[in-house]
Amino acid sequence: MNVLRFEDLAAQGKARGQRVFIRADLNVPLDDAGHITEDTRIRASIPCIELALKAGAAVMVTSHLGRPTEGELKPEDSLAPVARRMGELMGREIPVIANWVDGVTVSPGELVMLENCRVNKGEKKNSEELAKKMAALCDIFVHDAFGTAHRAEASTYGIAQFAKIACAGPLLAAEIDAITKALANPRRPLVAIVAGSKVSTKLTILQSLAKNVDQLIVGGGIANTFMLAAGLPIGKSLAEANLLDDAKAVIAAMKMRGAAVPIPVDVVTAKAFAADAPAVVKPATAVESDDLILDIGPKTAATLAEQLKQAGTIVWNGPVGVFEFDAFSRGTETIARAIAASSAFSIAGGGDTLAAIAKYGIEREIGYISTGGGAFLEVLEGKTLPAFEILQRRAVTG
Ligand code: 3PG
Repeated sequence: MNVLRFEDLAAQGKARGQRVFIRADLNVPLDDAGHITEDTRIRASIPCIELALKAGAAVMVTSHLGRPTEGELKPEDSLAPVARRMGELMGREIPVIANWVDGVTVSPGELVMLENCRVNKGEKKNSEELAKKMAALCDIFVHDAFGTAHRAEASTYGIAQFAKIACAGPLLAAEIDAITKALANPRRPLVAIVAGSKVSTKLTILQSLAKNVDQLIVGGGIANTFMLAAGLPIGKSLAEANLLDDAKAVIAAMKMRGAAVPIPVDVVTAKAFAADAPAVVKPATAVESDDLILDIGPKTAATLAEQLKQAGTIVWNGPVGVFEFDAFSRGTETIARAIAASSAFSIAGGGDTLAAIAKYGIEREIGYISTGGGAFLEVLEGKTLPAFEILQRRAVTG
């Protein structure tokens, strides 16, 4: 993907003495007391900021936090806890500036955090007036917020239109490279795992991947609908009967291309959705009317693991069973360990997937772990994200 990269500009000395505006995604979870419960996005945003400081720039960083009402900064919407945590990680004080749209004073070597950009009026609707004001604050706009790359807002899109220079930060660039390697230019076979509770929320992803991947492994409630489409009993498991035709169409589209959607041959069932419900392994043909399918069975998991080990590229979104309950976690664990052991380039994204990766401690064995939630899903849907579109356009038009 042809975009201007901040790393290149910095290496060429073009950031020295310049005002650099970094749009990061620092939208981290907070508990009721306002404490950060997970700081991955803060950590992931620091390399870009350090690069800008080392390059001799005057650095402003901003992000949205939550979904505040425009025009009012409530205490719970403030980026103050984020600035504190980032300050601890970087070993420096990071001042937080409110009401910054009409002007910011920052000198080369300094770093300031601009308060929650979503409280600015016009942010969400990508107001041209707001975007132009933000663009005027800087010489270089750096988009480093992959988690927000699917939003065309003033601080993610409009500013990129009007800033003198608009480029991708190292985090966004790494995401672009990983996505290109996995989906646009994959080493084959390309295997995708798409799991989750409902086909309806991931139907576009399934349809899009069905045109590209060699194996489409479905899991969770999605697999139940596919089992039903394949004529198997699923008892009282979660499924969407109204989407059977769509599931059949995905299976048929894959078959036409000589590709496949592997349907489970065995499953782990229970009579209730509970951590202590007795788990019973049975053939997929023997599911009883009062059974709930809560995981794939060991034979299915072993076959899929073998396929994953042979893969050239793996895209992973979603655990294949209720991995939070130990008795129903083996399928997801087997898949996770197979991905970790595979020589394939793997890319993983989505909240539950990241939780599974953390549970099995395989972070280092995954080729790339995406910081995007909705943005990652939209990439899998085959959409061109607004951030990528505008940065590509600016790379051509200057
Ligand atoms: C996310 O958490 O996925 C991103 O920060 C985007 O947040 P949003 O869905 O509120 O735009």
